[in-house]
Amino acid sequence: PETITIQELANRMTERGVDVIRLLMKQGAMHKITDVIDADTAQLIAEEMGHTVKRVAESDVEEGLFDTPDTDEALEARPAVVTIMGHVDHGKTSLLDAIRKTKVVTGEAGGITQHIGAYQVTTPLGSQVTFIDTPGHAAFTAMRARGAKVTDIVVLVVAADDGVMPQTAEAIHHAKAAGVPLIVAINKVDKADANPDRVRAELLQYEIQVETLGGETLEVEVSAKTGHNLDKLLEAIALQAEVLDLKANPDRAAEGTVIEAKLDRGRGPVATVLVQRGTLRTGDIIVAGAEWGRVRALIADTGAQVKEAPPSMPVEVLGFNGTPEAGDRVAVVESEARAREVTEYRERQRRDRLAARGAASGAGRSLADM
Ligand code: GTP
Ligand code: MG
Repeated sequence: PETITIQELANRMTERGVDVIRLLMKQGAMHKITDVIDADTAQLIAEEMGHTVKRVAESDVEEGLFDTPDTDEALEARPAVVTIMGHVDHGKTSLLDAIRKTKVVTGEAGGITQHIGAYQVTTPLGSQVTFIDTPGHAAFTAMRARGAKVTDIVVLVVAADDGVMPQTAEAIHHAKAAGVPLIVAINKVDKADANPDRVRAELLQYEIQVETLGGETLEVEVSAKTGHNLDKLLEAIALQAEVLDLKANPDRAAEGTVIEAKLDRGRGPVATVLVQRGTLRTGDIIVAGAEWGRVRALIADTGAQVKEAPPSMPVEVLGFNGTPEAGDRVAVVESEARAREVTEYRERQRRDRLAARGAASGAGRSLADM
């Protein structure tokens, strides 16, 4: 049920909290300012104090922001979004790096990926693919789970000298839960102690049967170090993408997801957004979680400024008034007023939730009740 703290109710009416408490007391209920009351009681109080009440339902505010349908004719082919997953140090970043032929790995602190990077490359078949690199560290499980939500294909990297490890299994679960097809990249086959057959056998325990064992899962033996079979891997991705027949309408207000976001000293809030439908343009008014802004600049993975970002393109977005969170969904809205309405509503919701939680714990309930 909907609830509100007495403080918040008073704030919204620009009344004093004590006056609200006094009224409630008249009705026989003792309260303190931080208490939570239900929406019906709040409405009665507000009306008694001479305010008109407009109960705003989530459906009103969030209506039409996401997932409004497209006609089939409006849909156009879009690049596949591929997330690289796998156990720590199995070579996810190296692999992506080798594919891009840049040096992302050496620039990272201790060689451990601290954030999700996103890049676009062209496959030997001429199609474009968007790659998302996810951290391999156990602490970043939540981020990895998000990776699976925006992704069309998972490339599971398994080091041939190490085999299936806990986070390999985790990645398999994420891919299965998201219903996303998986391609196995057996990496580090250049190493003397590499044993790709062991990897194939171990994967069977997770109900993944690769092609060479008569199954359906595409698998490629690769080496990020020597570049062995990287073209084959890209081909496998391109083939899988073709089967999926991925499409989106580029001619609509953009929707997407924040892949990562940070507050940059010089540039202000910077969010890496994966555009999923529509085309994002400079000047657009966007909302993401409880933040909004007007797109000041869009920066592609190459570092170049672009005027627009079509579906499946990852871009750095400058112009947010605050820093959104990784995983927040992004939508373009028609006006600043609409952006304010949405984000203020979400911010209120967040505060109400926190207050309700605070009140519940104050009443001595256990964490399990929340
Ligand atoms: P996290 O992001 O920390 O999960 O690691 P990662 O999966 O991105 O692994 P990363 O690319 O950082 O590689 C880990 C180590 O394995 C580095 O020292 C790489 O040089 C090495 N490595 C990666 N791929 C290969 C390969 O194909 N062959 C050999 N010999 N070494 C590799
Ligand atoms: Mg990495």
